[in-house]
Amino acid sequence: MLAFLLIVGLSFYVMASSISGMVGDSLFEQRIRTDRSSLESLATRASPLLAQSDVQALRSQLLTAGGELGGRILLLDQNGKVQLDSYGEMQGMRLQYPEIANILVRGQSVDYGVHELDSGTKLDTSHLLFTRRTSASWVGYCTAGVVYASDIIGVLLLVSPVQEIMQNLYQLQDQLILIFVVVAGAALLAAWVFSSIITRPIAGLNRGIQHMSKGDFSSRVKVRGAGEMKQLARAFNSMSEKLETLDQSRNQFVSNASHELKTPLATMKIMIESLIYQPDMDKNLRTEFMTDINNEIDRLSAIVSDLLTLVQMDSQNVKLTRENLSIAQLIKENAHRLQPIADQKGQTIQLSLADPCDMYADKSKLNQVIYNLMENAVKYTQNGGQIKVGLQRQGRDARFTVTDNGPGIPKENLPHIFDRFYRVDKARSREKGGTGLGLSIVHQLVLLHGGAISVESEEGKGATFIVELPLHQG
Ligand SMILES: Nc1ncnc2c1ncn2[C@@H]1O[C@H](COP(=O)(O)OP(=O)(O)O)[C@@H](O)[C@H]1O
Ligand SMILES: [Mg+2]
Repeated sequence: MLAFLLIVGLSFYVMASSISGMVGDSLFEQRIRTDRSSLESLATRASPLLAQSDVQALRSQLLTAGGELGGRILLLDQNGKVQLDSYGEMQGMRLQYPEIANILVRGQSVDYGVHELDSGTKLDTSHLLFTRRTSASWVGYCTAGVVYASDIIGVLLLVSPVQEIMQNLYQLQDQLILIFVVVAGAALLAAWVFSSIITRPIAGLNRGIQHMSKGDFSSRVKVRGAGEMKQLARAFNSMSEKLETLDQSRNQFVSNASHELKTPLATMKIMIESLIYQPDMDKNLRTEFMTDINNEIDRLSAIVSDLLTLVQMDSQNVKLTRENLSIAQLIKENAHRLQPIADQKGQTIQLSLADPCDMYADKSKLNQVIYNLMENAVKYTQNGGQIKVGLQRQGRDARFTVTDNGPGIPKENLPHIFDRFYRVDKARSREKGGTGLGLSIVHQLVLLHGGAISVESEEGKGATFIVELPLHQG
């Protein structure tokens, strides 16, 4: 702000002093011209009189001329000594004005200068503003050489008041200063308004960022200001929105995970306490308890390994270990793995693989996708149910489908089916050894391969999971 004022003030000073200098010069010029020519003609008239030392005639000449010009006229000799004074006061005094020296020493024919009457300081029009002294009275000194036979035999000095001109100049300066104050005030006001328009949204954004750095992701900024500012505010809002959802889902995940881990631990604790406090427990019951504890441990380790898989995929830098494989081949292998369970439940697994769908992909990860989907179908479909697995090429994609005629998934549960720990029927899934993480892992793995997964289902009529994988990357 200070720098701004300084620049405005300085440029104004330069401008004002050059204006007042220019005006001053032009005001004085008129005066100089008339004074000069009158004094020059007086000098020509005076020169023969001075040469003849006709003091009487000289004095009357000076007096009339002084009266005409409205000033005081002095006649000096070659040494600058006053010979005659139209006011009759300064006879015999030696005057040392530069205008006189310019005639006597430098041989100029005429000269002019404005001086302060009391101090004798010469006026410099280019520094008028700086040397402004309203109380001082100013006089103009006009000098002309009196030449006789090409010798300078004397100097005529006309002293005339220039107070009126100076007064005009001061008036002009007053006006300029007034204009400066008004302009500077307006400029300051405009600068303040503009800067507040610009800085207000930035300050808002700053506050938002500070809130955020303290962990409060709910802060949003007002979208205002011009172009880029608006975009920045929008970008900030969408970023904080994303961070907020991320924060919420992370909290949700942690609380879900702890809950999932706590349940088997609590069950195990109860059973182990029973074993401790009832040492003479029936042998068969004891074995049953041990088996239950063993199952809970299996569940715990399943959850932990699923969690590890998820965490690994979350840490951005998952690497796919790609190799040439045939999806059809993977499906056959998984069907073979699941056949014993299906047989137990009296289910049929029907494969219709129209194309081998060779691709360059991560075998173990694709295996996980296929196994999870087929296992779910076997697991959730009732005894005697039917599972159909299809594979075909569709354009540049492999389309892999798993259809069952099981209970299906209610419409309201469909949007959440790929969420972590989401289960339609918690108790049933748990009893079947599910963690609720399978489909979310599948979803992530499919995304990693650049594919897409969707589900179609009608309650009571079964479900179809559809996976589309690009056969060629890039
Ligand atoms: N084929 C299916 N038919 C009916 N429901 C299913 C099927 N597949 C998955 N589900 C539902 O989706 C939920 C989530 O599946 P998943 O993530 O694999 O977890 P989990 O199998 O460990 O319970 C299951 O609990 C089940 O309710
Ligand atoms: Mg599952």
